[in-house]
Amino acid sequence: MFLTNSNTDYNTPLDPQDLETLGAEAAAEVERFLSFRENNTETPLVSLSTLAQELGISSIHMKDEGFRLGLGSFKALGGSYAVIRLVLEEASKRLSRTVDVSELHTAEVAAVAKTMTFACATDGNHGRSVAQGAQLVGARAAIFVHSGVSDERVAAIARFGADTIRVEGTYDDSVKNASKVAAERGWTTVSDTTWPGYERIPGLVMQGYTAIIREALRKMPKPPTHVFVQSGVGGIAAAAAGYLAIVLGDQRPVFTVVDPERAACIVESARAGHPVTIPHGEPTVMAMLECYAPSLVAWRILSRVADAFMTVDEEEAVSAMRRLAHPVAGDPAIVAGESGGVGLAGLIKAVTNQETKSALRLDAHARVLVINTEGATDPVKYKEIVGTAPGSILMKGEEAAV
Ligand SMILES: Cc1ncc(COP(=O)(O)O)c(C=O)c1O
Repeated sequence: MFLTNSNTDYNTPLDPQDLETLGAEAAAEVERFLSFRENNTETPLVSLSTLAQELGISSIHMKDEGFRLGLGSFKALGGSYAVIRLVLEEASKRLSRTVDVSELHTAEVAAVAKTMTFACATDGNHGRSVAQGAQLVGARAAIFVHSGVSDERVAAIARFGADTIRVEGTYDDSVKNASKVAAERGWTTVSDTTWPGYERIPGLVMQGYTAIIREALRKMPKPPTHVFVQSGVGGIAAAAAGYLAIVLGDQRPVFTVVDPERAACIVESARAGHPVTIPHGEPTVMAMLECYAPSLVAWRILSRVADAFMTVDEEEAVSAMRRLAHPVAGDPAIVAGESGGVGLAGLIKAVTNQETKSALRLDAHARVLVINTEGATDPVKYKEIVGTAPGSILMKGEEAAV
């Protein structure tokens, strides 16, 4: 499935609140917050020049979020950032003054954080980030996981001291359950998806993701002409597309959103011209992208500034993982989890089909940016799929500088 954007609000200006959430000033503040994190380093931007040559395009750069804040995925940027912001806001309210992130570890802020509990639903990675943020500030975390989340992923969340609660059903059921229980108990829901009347906190989560693109633009020799980003509820795609549209204006790259064929809620929304909830089908190997309803804020942004929407199937996703693990000579190896290489899978599919290649103008001048959104966040599953343990690939692979 491939669609160019034919929504009525395509290319209209972003909403004022989205401009503020994803603008340059907000992104600079995200970086300032990150500078206070102990394990903060920019993630590698890897050049895949042999693959680019093979595909007949000028360059491919992959931002490798497997190295983000010790969590193994880009989600490390969102949930924990929102938790820190919310604790500082609460401390400012209670102390009747503005409390800055530089005061995060003071006794005054710790006393406030201790009284707060943060709840969320997760496929795995977002919950890990919220749990990490809560542990960092000394708050409690209650993370709701649906039946499809592997025991490995649940254990990784619990290691941050969070309570994990198993919920019957899918991701969407766990979202509903988390917000219901949180409302009953006076907890703060830090969701990565939005619904009517609940936008601000997921907006903060998305704001955190802007760091990826800000770092990439600084490192790339020239800005990208094309970007492919995978989507679950659409949060990372919207953050990336929105930030690029704001900072690059008319020069923004052609932006393609990539969904799993079995959970294509963004593609189906693009087809319908409004956000749609799709029926649950078979589970997808792209476990972190298995969402059946888009984030309304993400959709509001993508309907304006995404240029195309496409799906990849199970085999295409797995093949991108294997290709990154065992690259053609000259390119470094990259450990991409089941949902990590999906943007690249989208690029490979688009460039090998004449119609999509020309619709997107993917020619010899194309400079493509993709994001490896996760490393081997479930190492057992990774080895099952790729046939090699993530550790041994990393030892062989070099983090190539640009
Ligand atoms: C590794 C990975 N990639 C991509 C996504 C999709 O992000 P979003 O749901 O914001 O679209 C997720 C979401 O959990 C994820 O964990």
